[in-house]
Amino acid sequence: MTDLRRRFVEQLRRHGAPLTPELAAAFASVPREIFVADGFQRRDGTWAEPGTAGFLETVYQDEVLVTKVHGRTPVSSSSQPSLMAVMLSALDVSAGHRVLEIGAGTGYNAALLSAVGAEVTSIDVQADVADRARAALTRAGVEKVRVIAGDGYAGAPGQRFDRAIVTVGVAGVSPHWLQQTGPGPIVVPVEHAGTHPVLAVRGTMDGPVTATVVCPSGFMTAAGPLTAQHARAHPHPVPAESLATFAETAPARWEQPLDPYEYRDLWYAAGVWHTRATQAALPGRDGSTLTLLDETGTGGAAILPDGSVMAGGGGAQRYTAEAVEVLDRWDAANRPPMQAWRITLERAGDPDTPIWCPAAWELAR
Ligand SMILES: C[S@@+](CC[C@H](N)C(=O)[O-])C[C@H]1O[C@@H](n2cnc3c(N)ncnc32)[C@H](O)[C@@H]1O
Repeated sequence: MTDLRRRFVEQLRRHGAPLTPELAAAFASVPREIFVADGFQRRDGTWAEPGTAGFLETVYQDEVLVTKVHGRTPVSSSSQPSLMAVMLSALDVSAGHRVLEIGAGTGYNAALLSAVGAEVTSIDVQADVADRARAALTRAGVEKVRVIAGDGYAGAPGQRFDRAIVTVGVAGVSPHWLQQTGPGPIVVPVEHAGTHPVLAVRGTMDGPVTATVVCPSGFMTAAGPLTAQHARAHPHPVPAESLATFAETAPARWEQPLDPYEYRDLWYAAGVWHTRATQAALPGRDGSTLTLLDETGTGGAAILPDGSVMAGGGGAQRYTAEAVEVLDRWDAANRPPMQAWRITLERAGDPDTPIWCPAAWELAR
């Protein structure tokens, strides 16, 4: 077991996880298998049960473990460990910090926070998930973690925190978190162009509220007011079956296609410059593609990592021109990484349950 976890930490380092000695010690000491005691869904859709062949080996891979599904939709999971490491490192948490976590899930992230000496209040909207997280934390002997069942929008009224970490995708930041969390930061995956880049947000409940980008990510979507529609929301991701046939309308512009991180940088900029940028599964292509979706939701133009454009539907020509404009603009700006953007958030959503959403972007000088 010690060996499995030692190799796990090495794997996280190889995957670029920024592990301080304290974080490395946390990943090396917290038994992840205790937090997935009811098993998880394998990639082929079958359920992996504890004690079966390969169970522990998979638990100590740098992989998301889906622990609850509704039909075919994952509704709870233990996130990808290298992403957890990046988010925990952005949280800049030290022993004695009081941390609010939204999305208790399995309880594993809360256990890691506890291992670095934080005092944690973790909230999950699903009561059965909160119960299981609480039980797992007890079995693992984790101290100073309180799990609450409820909608994380309200945070933990009456409590004060030094930091907040959100482990579910939201459209905007709750003013309650800003009120309960000193100067911050709040580390939170916020919808942008069909994905959830993780932001480090600072501000007060009445504003101003600003943010920087930590890293790309794709989280499951939160329930309740945290995902309210707002004026600047991009279209939701589109499944392959809803798109018209797409054909190449502009050739590759780069001999060397963008690597996955550069592609996410272009994607982020496209979301700043185009209100209809989102994620689409193109028929016949693996993975997800940056797409400027037309108003019918069935056509538009997709931008591929080599800079070529594929388009379809009635507005294919217009959308191709807009895609090329995005590419020209990104090149002209010297291909800014997503971390170069400075974001101003505005109050939006339902007036009774407002959220602070990204509204204006500027490139750092
Ligand atoms: C990716 S999982 C969290 C992973 C978790 N931190 C861990 O270490 O296992 C996302 C969780 O967010 C919860 N969730 C969704 N909407 C929520 C909301 N509005 N408030 C609180 N939790 C929410 C889901 O029930 C789900 O368990």
